Amino acid sequence: MSGAREQFGSRIGFILAAAGSAVGIGNLVGFPVGAAKNGGGAFLLMYAIFVFAICLPVMLAEMSVGRHAKKDPLGAYSAISNESPKWKLAGWLAIATPFMIAVFYMVITVWIFGYLFEAVSGNLDKLANPDTFGIFINSPSIFAYMAVVVGVVYLILQGGVKEGIEKAAKLLMPALFVMLLGLVIFVLTRENAMAGVEFYIVPDFSKLTASVVNGALAQAFFSLSLGMGILITYGSYIDKRADVPTSAKLVALTDTAVAFTAGLMILPAIFSFNPEINPDELSESSVGMIFTYLPNIFLALQDSIGYLGASFVASLFFLLVFFAAITSLVSIFEVPVAALMDEKGVSRKWALASLGSIMIVLAILSALSFGKVEFLTQFMHYAGVDKSLFDVIIDVFYETILPLNGLLICIFVIYRWKSANFNASLEEGSDGYKGSLFEKYVDVSLKTFIPLILLVIFVNTVAVKYFGFSVFG
Ligand code: PHE
Repeated sequence: MSGAREQFGSRIGFILAAAGSAVGIGNLVGFPVGAAKNGGGAFLLMYAIFVFAICLPVMLAEMSVGRHAKKDPLGAYSAISNESPKWKLAGWLAIATPFMIAVFYMVITVWIFGYLFEAVSGNLDKLANPDTFGIFINSPSIFAYMAVVVGVVYLILQGGVKEGIEKAAKLLMPALFVMLLGLVIFVLTRENAMAGVEFYIVPDFSKLTASVVNGALAQAFFSLSLGMGILITYGSYIDKRADVPTSAKLVALTDTAVAFTAGLMILPAIFSFNPEINPDELSESSVGMIFTYLPNIFLALQDSIGYLGASFVASLFFLLVFFAAITSLVSIFEVPVAALMDEKGVSRKWALASLGSIMIVLAILSALSFGKVEFLTQFMHYAGVDKSLFDVIIDVFYETILPLNGLLICIFVIYRWKSANFNASLEEGSDGYKGSLFEKYVDVSLKTFIPLILLVIFVNTVAVKYFGFSVFG
């Protein structure tokens, strides 16, 4: 391996790569639907507060640990804690979590690519059939689509940080912004679109129950790519001159702006197609929304713009989601790859090939857990329900360990690395940060209520997921 650590070539490259990680399927579909069902403007307001008051300080913690240690998450936890075995365990969690989340994210990205392919091939009418999705996820063509997705991720990552990750982000992110804006403008000029906007924005505070609040925070946390070692890893590719606080604010702002804008595309589209819609009927899951509900809405466009026009809009939408998913997948897979390179001194190509192979096997097993293979479909049984391998990966890594990792990084930064070192590190490269109100806020919040909130979420998730009750009653 060459001596110097790879680096992002420019500040905007780092910001776009981090934003590329943050902007994903969660922003484009999960967020708009969550907001619409759970109080509209009231949800939006609460979400924005969570992003800036709770998630932003955690983001700063992750980026600064990476930049300071110049290592992958496992190496960073070890180095800063002087090889403490306890903290090494946190480091292991910070590389195992992204690896496993990458498995389920990969499966969904493969489906998106498949739908993109079908829409471009003129099969929108087939996609709009409610039975299609169930057949599609168990069809052999999944493996061909998987080969393409793996190939794209491999091509980007083998280029390294500057020529791979940064270049891809600089290309895909602006393209994503343009497509999103194009679709928003198109949708907003449809008949009855304003009813959707109204529904999305008018606040209904009565909907904000404890579980909605919990869900909004979890959504914000996931959306900003926290708890997955990604920002530690990306932070290790910037130098002391980089302004971490400003970059983090821009990443959080971009992510939130994209999520908000996506709502201006999804909800008006739904309302314009079906003015009588009762939002409680909207699909609970992003998966149901993307793969069953939306194709129907796209097909309905054929009355006004013809089948070709409708197929074009659908293709654009799936391309948009595909771009968002690819930059997230790249970022999450870079974490274990960087860890293997750093810890074992192997080449990037070797790390990619070996981890990639394990990942493909796990992704195939997950893809077979939707009925194809009995053992994988009923992989476990807890809290009164059968769980497929795919469900178990989501429950354990995404729902449970993610907030735990967030909790650990807060405690680590404040009590092990020490807040004075953390603050001094953030001041490097950021002129206005020292002594600012923001600095005080980040410091105090990470010492007090942020770890407390993450602890409550973690305990509650364990109670709900595995024991079937909520501490919120
Ligand atoms: N932030 C992504 C989203 O909103 C989530 C994610 C990031 C998933 C990185 C995987 C890797 O969809």
